[in-house]
Amino acid sequence: MIYYFSGTGNSRAVALRLAALLHDTAAAMTAAKDTDKPGGGKEGCTGLVFPVYAWGPPLFVEQWLRSDAFRPAAGSYVYAVCTCGDDIGRTDRLTARLLQPKSCGLAAAFSIAMPNTYVALPGFDVDDGATARHKLEAAGPRLERVAAAIKRREKGVRDVVPGAFPWIKTHVLRPLFNRLLTGDARFRAGAACVGCGACAKACPVGNIRPDAGGRPMWQHRCTMCLACYHACPQGCIGYGPFTRGKGRYPGPGNAL
Ligand SMILES: Cc1cc2nc3c(=O)[nH]c(=O)nc-3n(C[C@H](O)[C@H](O)[C@H](O)COP(=O)(O)O)c2cc1C
Repeated sequence: MIYYFSGTGNSRAVALRLAALLHDTAAAMTAAKDTDKPGGGKEGCTGLVFPVYAWGPPLFVEQWLRSDAFRPAAGSYVYAVCTCGDDIGRTDRLTARLLQPKSCGLAAAFSIAMPNTYVALPGFDVDDGATARHKLEAAGPRLERVAAAIKRREKGVRDVVPGAFPWIKTHVLRPLFNRLLTGDARFRAGAACVGCGACAKACPVGNIRPDAGGRPMWQHRCTMCLACYHACPQGCIGYGPFTRGKGRYPGPGNAL
């Protein structure tokens, strides 16, 4: 079984492509409450596919991996595929540490560059069209190589792009990011909101409730995926002043 979390569709597309290549099944972590089926998935093989948020797993993924919802069979071959815009810092090691109490360990970790979705700080924006296309074109063959390594049950693999200063990014910048720049307090829907509900539908963690007029009310369980921002057809959801003038990512479509 492949369990995935995805805000804006990249990790979902990767999980579905991987499932096709491995003749396995993909399921959203948000819906997976019973992961201890006998055998722990296909031939005792469990995949975790998720995006990198601030050089680590999204808070939702961290909580899900720690929770009783995730119970891989002892000795199961567990691998992680992290989608990222550029680099993952020490996400692989952090994930391995989260798995320690689960009696399985992380046999293999891979990163896949996908179009960037982070726009909520000055200097960060979605990729230009050519860069996004190039990443999506490269992701297909890369996933075939990843699937081949998983089929061979390769162990001890860390086929990832950690980037520069990975320890500082994951262990210094990430906690600061989670404390100061994660959460829904800064999200607002502007006057152009027509109450269509696209933001609530896009939110993978069910964090948006419509008010009487259909406008979004964030429920303070945000994992910072920015799905609401990117999915708004009116382009009227913003994150404080930081998203002003920024692009929106339409998702990978059928590119994989
Ligand atoms: C809050 C947030 C933080 C991010 N942090 C990183 C990061 O540390 N490194 C990176 O390369 N990409 C980062 N990204 C980009 C995403 O990892 C990348 O676009 C990913 O493929 C999105 O996957 P999804 O569409 O499944 O949510 C970040 C995106 C968001 C929304």
